[in-house]
Amino acid sequence: MKETVTAALYAPSADFVRRAHVKGLDEWRVLFERAQNDPEGFWGELADKELYWFEKWSKVLDWSNPPFAKWFAGAKTNISYNCLDRHLDGPRKNKAAIIWEGEPGDQRILTYQDLHRFVCRFANVLKSRGFKAGDRAVIYMPMIPEAAIAMLACARLGIVHSVVFAGFSSEALKARIQDLEAGLVITADGGWRRGKEVKLKLTADEALAECPTVRDVIVYRRTGSEIPMMDGRDYWWHELDDTVGDHCPAEALDSEHPLYVLYTSGTTGKPKGILHTTGGYLLQCTMTMKWVFDIREEDAYWCSADIGWVTGHSYIVYGPLSIGATSVMYEGAPDTPRFDRWWRIIEKYRINVFYTSPTAIRALIRQGDHWPNEHDLSSLRLLGSVGEPINPAAWEWYHRVIGKGRCPIVDTWWQTETGSIMIAPMPGAVPLKPGSGTLPLPGIAADIVDMRGQPVAADREGFLVIRQPWPSMLRTIWGDPGRFKEQYWTRYPGVYFTGDAARRDADGYFWILGRVDDVMNVSGHRLSTMEIESALVRHPKVAEAAVVGKPHEITGQAVCCFVTLKKGDHDIDSLAQELRQWVAHEIGGFARPEEIRFTDTLPKTRSGKIMRRLLREIVTSHSVTGDVTTLEDLGVITKLAAQQEEE
Ligand code: WTA
Repeated sequence: MKETVTAALYAPSADFVRRAHVKGLDEWRVLFERAQNDPEGFWGELADKELYWFEKWSKVLDWSNPPFAKWFAGAKTNISYNCLDRHLDGPRKNKAAIIWEGEPGDQRILTYQDLHRFVCRFANVLKSRGFKAGDRAVIYMPMIPEAAIAMLACARLGIVHSVVFAGFSSEALKARIQDLEAGLVITADGGWRRGKEVKLKLTADEALAECPTVRDVIVYRRTGSEIPMMDGRDYWWHELDDTVGDHCPAEALDSEHPLYVLYTSGTTGKPKGILHTTGGYLLQCTMTMKWVFDIREEDAYWCSADIGWVTGHSYIVYGPLSIGATSVMYEGAPDTPRFDRWWRIIEKYRINVFYTSPTAIRALIRQGDHWPNEHDLSSLRLLGSVGEPINPAAWEWYHRVIGKGRCPIVDTWWQTETGSIMIAPMPGAVPLKPGSGTLPLPGIAADIVDMRGQPVAADREGFLVIRQPWPSMLRTIWGDPGRFKEQYWTRYPGVYFTGDAARRDADGYFWILGRVDDVMNVSGHRLSTMEIESALVRHPKVAEAAVVGKPHEITGQAVCCFVTLKKGDHDIDSLAQELRQWVAHEIGGFARPEEIRFTDTLPKTRSGKIMRRLLREIVTSHSVTGDVTTLEDLGVITKLAAQQEEE
């Protein structure tokens, strides 16, 4: 890295630097170089200092069988112990661990002691129902503290959890339960979103009809609405809770014990179950809370993500609780009852550090500055962004209108697979450039390479890769180690392929350009083109479908589907609506296509491969326009492009 970094646009204020965990570029450089020269020594020291271990490791990193890493091999620890028990000996005992607000305005504050007690009791419930280390539990919950309690109770006993985002449909839920062969589903009657009840138990029931491995369904009562309970399978959380005690020691688990599986979209129709394990995952979550969010003991920290995505796992639950922070959690939508709900929450709880997504920022910009301006946001010290590239205009607004020009913005690049933040500024050290994630964190060997795996020159585009294993890396794809190898480790042997394109400027700053595979990023949620295509062709009237991401002002990308129909008379207007609804039913409302375009042919190469590249061009450049529901004749361009493609 060159010294010209100091010429960047936004340097932290002297006041910010003075109180930061890492002060100035010199301190950053010492850490970075130490990690580079001796990664095992570096991570080993941090693991020793920052986490509690029942037994220490024999080796920091066992990379003898790549790409299957073992971090802190042979050590014993427990994440729930690290997030709860170890805080109970001192002043954190009565500190708020979770401050929660429901959409209707109800509130709960759980101290570390409370949270510990609730987790122990629920772990006792799980034990009493016969669940044990290695079993799999699917968590399908609204954004309520019990979602975190369920996760921590599973972690306490070594039960592998898999949180399924509450916006997923019964079909998506079923596929995940089946893939995991889960014995347990933890859900709720419903949750609140935009003033309406999201009826989770009813959706779960549809999925459960075809999930023979599930023995128990535990249901938390959140909304109080009438729901069917199946005798011998369904149990109320509060009734089981009445039967257990408060005492439940945390199990000493192997550092590589599986913690959770989180499904994410890949390049095929089948979602990938990303597996994270214990010691290494927790260490990197813990360190990034300090390095990137610069959390202080007295802070109120709020990550607005949903617990169903990786951001919720690492930065609402495990990271914040491991460092003994106060994590704020909000159940509902940002516009309910009005567009100032988030700013109201920041004002009310005096939030110091706020972490959200560019899509949310853009949606709120559109509503006008008067919403945030009506509130006192002076408690904010630091802002964060995640999930997709943040465009400079949104960055500037976030900085000026929300941060009042005072708060650094940490743009954090990472993935479900990486487990925690990989590229991001340490805000008291690294000057910011709007739109850049800046520099890799210590111990993260990020690089940008060409097709042959050679590093590219400054300002040239290439593929973002990680050259060395890191503690919170995914360990495999559940049940499919072959796909794990093939997907991430074969393009450049021994090097992790991220699937993102990026460039690095002359200061060494990373600029993420987006996905290079058939994965779209809609509102910061990953969607696979193949998954939506497979959903569409399951519809009886659809012959073929091709899906591409279309640039969208608010959500970054929007789902655009090109569809050919089977022979017959079709009412195209109503069919477009029906297909949008169909995709929502097959996957979830957040995957609902923005646009369905009917066409009589799909552009294909002469060997029959659909040319999504061409369709992407069409939706990006608007070279073919028209009513969303009119029949498009792509014949001519298709023929031309097919010739070009194969010349
Ligand atoms: C994209 C979310 C630019 C990227 C934590 C990555 C980003 C994918 C950023 C992972 C960022 C995430 N700047 N792009 N700060 N953060 N991405 O698994 O394409 O839901 O590969 O994890 O989101 O999405 P995932």
